[in-house]
Amino acid sequence: MKKRVFSGIKPTGDIHIGNYLGANRHWAAMQDDYDNIFCVVDLHAITEPQDPALLKGRIREFAGLLMAIGIDPERSILFVQSHVHEHSELAWILNCFIPMGWMYRMTQFKEKAEQQREQVSVGLFDYPSLMAADILLYRTDVVPVGEDQKQHVELTRDVAQRFNNIYGETFVLPEPLIPDVGARIMGLDDPTKKMSGSEEGAGHAINLLDSPDMIRSKIMKATTDSKRDILFDESRPGIFNLLSIYQTFTGEDNKQIESRFEGKGYSDFKKALAEVAIEGLRPLQERYKELTGEPGRIDSILAKGAEKARPLAEKMLAEVQKKVGLG
Ligand code: AMP
Ligand code: TRP
Repeated sequence: MKKRVFSGIKPTGDIHIGNYLGANRHWAAMQDDYDNIFCVVDLHAITEPQDPALLKGRIREFAGLLMAIGIDPERSILFVQSHVHEHSELAWILNCFIPMGWMYRMTQFKEKAEQQREQVSVGLFDYPSLMAADILLYRTDVVPVGEDQKQHVELTRDVAQRFNNIYGETFVLPEPLIPDVGARIMGLDDPTKKMSGSEEGAGHAINLLDSPDMIRSKIMKATTDSKRDILFDESRPGIFNLLSIYQTFTGEDNKQIESRFEGKGYSDFKKALAEVAIEGLRPLQERYKELTGEPGRIDSILAKGAEKARPLAEKMLAEVQKKVGLG
């Protein structure tokens, strides 16, 4: 029996090469080693204001991009969170077993609440409970996430344990899986800040669907320094970041890359990097075009995914309802 993997991706902003190189392509590579479920978490997206038409489009776009990256809906379950209503129902029940104090300690909420003040929604506060429901519904063993989500997976373990203590063995306790290789990709405009999807500046991130011209222009404008040598030198964050991007796309080691660009200038290196990024993204962009070229294809794949997820979720929720004494 393979271990169950569950991970979620929130359909907001754009998927950039940081997400791809740091997370999503590992999901695709892990597919044969685990029994996988990947979920586009639209209910999590609405914890902050969203434009309805944009959200609807992004859900399909994100699902299409995951498939283009290599998530195979025949081997993995790929579905949309709101298509399986058990997520919301289990989140409610879990709410009743999560002390306020645990939630107040969540750093992601604290950071966002500071920015949004009085406008912050109850949903945003409750975000970790819904995430716990996502994970626990499927008897998940392993949750591949970024460092920033580790605390939410720990809360998931805590509430699972608490429920099990009260009602007997019910939930599987999940482990977070934080990728340790994969470079942290920094912003092109500011290499001291992590590349992020919420950043507004046009020159900040390379998005997976960027055209070759956009990629060239963003890389040529990327912030470097006034030195010349093209070396993996962490004290020079701009060039270090560009070299790391080059490396994650090509898989070559530091020495190989440095010797290739010995005696060359930043402009030559940036041109070469742009071509590497363009070629690196080309296959997935082509697959994406193919998938979206056929109207209704993504919707039908997502409907099938929900059909596969639903019976698993129904069974778990029924067990929980029974234990709690509902109905
Ligand atoms: P986010 O969209 O920021 O929630 O990130 C989703 C996933 O992508 C995280 O789990 C990270 O592992 C990965 N990720 C996001 N930004 C970066 C980045 N700049 N460099 C490397 N990995 C990243
Ligand atoms: N909160 C996660 C993020 O922002 C997305 C997510 C929702 C998730 N539910 C999940 C990740 C369940 C892993 C498992 O990246």
